[in-house]
Amino acid sequence: MDYRLYRDDDFTQLYNIELACFEPPFRFSRQTMRRLIADPDSATWIAEEQEQMAGFAILYWAQPPEQPLAYIQTLEVLPAHRSRGVGRELLRRVEESASSAGAHVIWLHVAESNAPAIRLYEAHGYSQQGREENFYAKGIPALLYAKPIEHSPTA
Ligand SMILES: CC(C)(COP(=O)(O)OP(=O)(O)OC[C@H]1O[C@@H](n2cnc3c(N)ncnc32)[C@H](O)[C@@H]1OP(=O)(O)O)[C@@H](O)C(=O)NCCC(=O)NCCS
Repeated sequence: MDYRLYRDDDFTQLYNIELACFEPPFRFSRQTMRRLIADPDSATWIAEEQEQMAGFAILYWAQPPEQPLAYIQTLEVLPAHRSRGVGRELLRRVEESASSAGAHVIWLHVAESNAPAIRLYEAHGYSQQGREENFYAKGIPALLYAKPIEHSPTA
């Protein structure tokens, strides 16, 4: 599996993964997805094998003076490529981007019913910080998870 940052001609393959991974109301529209990817304070990591995209992850960051933070907009792996460590490696890549952007903490929302994603996040140091009612739609809550980001002291 190869990992690299997003290129402009990736959108069709990337959105096909969104269609395969999420049903409404969890699915981003094309317009929202384009906006998330185009944000200058974001990084989109792609996993691909023989030029076929297998997964992607989008990270956003913001730098309020009190606590620079990052947020995982989404992390998605095609069913045929799951349980091979692709999700874990995409997570590692977005965490590196968060660290490079100066973030001190990385946040994400995950559906309460999404056991595989919750397992992945908890196995990699994320802990539940809260629960937001009606996050995805009326009556569909999200769990809020966070992980502190270590910054090695500069010599
Ligand atoms: C959540 C998701 C991204 C995980 O992706 P993934 O590529 O399957 O993740 P990984 O392979 O890194 O880890 C998943 C499992 O595979 C196992 N695994 C990792 N590498 C492995 C390997 N080389 N061989 C066998 N198993 C392996 C992990 O231990 C883990 O097992 P566990 O779930 O029993 O703990 C994927 O299920 C997905 O895309 N779901 C739909 C979209 C989604 O819900 N995204 C999250 C939004 S919040």
